[in-house]
Amino acid sequence: MERIKLKGGSLAGTYHCIDKGFSFIRKQVSLTENREFGFYRWFSQLKKLQRLGRMFPELFPKVIGIGLEGGMSYFDLEFIENSVTVHEFLTKNPSPKDVERLFSELVRTMDILHSVKMPSFVGGFELYIDQEVSHALSFCMDEPAFRQFAEHKKIVFNGKEIPSLLHRIEEFQKLAAKHYVKPEECLTHGNITLENLLYVPSKNRIVFIDLYEENYIDTVWNDYSQIAQSSNSLYELYNKKTPIVKRNSVTAEVEYSPGLAAFNKLFQKFLQDKLTPDERVLTSLYEVSQFTRMLPFKKTIAKDKMILFYALASELFDQITKHD
Ligand SMILES: Nc1ncnc2c1ncn2[C@@H]1O[C@H](COP(=O)(O)OP(=O)(O)O)[C@@H](O)[C@H]1O
Ligand SMILES: [Mg+2]
Repeated sequence: MERIKLKGGSLAGTYHCIDKGFSFIRKQVSLTENREFGFYRWFSQLKKLQRLGRMFPELFPKVIGIGLEGGMSYFDLEFIENSVTVHEFLTKNPSPKDVERLFSELVRTMDILHSVKMPSFVGGFELYIDQEVSHALSFCMDEPAFRQFAEHKKIVFNGKEIPSLLHRIEEFQKLAAKHYVKPEECLTHGNITLENLLYVPSKNRIVFIDLYEENYIDTVWNDYSQIAQSSNSLYELYNKKTPIVKRNSVTAEVEYSPGLAAFNKLFQKFLQDKLTPDERVLTSLYEVSQFTRMLPFKKTIAKDKMILFYALASELFDQITKHD
């Protein structure tokens, strides 16, 4: 069997496999190392793919196998032919018309998933913020460089001075409580960045990949904020850079992408039209939380990115407080 590594390190990996001319995707993970961020997340993805794939077969790649191999567990997925990630598609500068076509299809497919709703409870959001903002930051405080940076009252991100988020957690909780007034959950993707969406341009087809079950509460605002994490906060572009850190300042410049910018314009307009003012603040608070919740993962796999994404979170939160 031929295997091409697409992503991942030694503890987890995604492979394109070709067995006697048959293509499939294999996602594997260590059964022993780093089980919380590795095996349990991998497992949640498998279960979500099986269940949601059964309900909406056109939206997900089919699971076609599960197994064990060399101390790792794996599952295999149907290979989506002629696909690129939405992020790849947009950064290759498609025409505005092609961006609109993709965007409409993304909204249509998200709406299908999100239309299955269930009641929820205000305490769920408080728990989420407590774990994914407050606890995620505490978890990183034993990293000396991170701690030194975050403890400054003011930090500088790409030349702009802003308050450091660490000192604003109470403010975050208060804003969250003020705006989380209509608890409602629905089926979600759970990890819907533009890199975790496949697009088949020839068929104008969107396929959801790399799902996770770690939202505490499954809300439409969480899914929207993960799209914004890519298109508004440019996560994937920043993630490729090596930031320069000096005392309380961090710098990383990313190139302008017309395709991403066109997509984001459509997306921001969509949020403006679709959401209430409370829901828009929630979506922005969720967007901040995407960058705090990733810090424990970055601590394990990419320490040099911790300060950069912390500063980005601080800047996003500062913007919200200025407009609230
Ligand atoms: N079913 C699939 N068909 C075709 N390509 C896929 C499929 N699943 C994943 N890929 C490719 O592998 C990459 C990584 O997959 P993903 O599930 O996002 O793994 P990771 O957890 O490593 O981010 C995707 O960006 C895409 O290029
Ligand atoms: Mg992925």
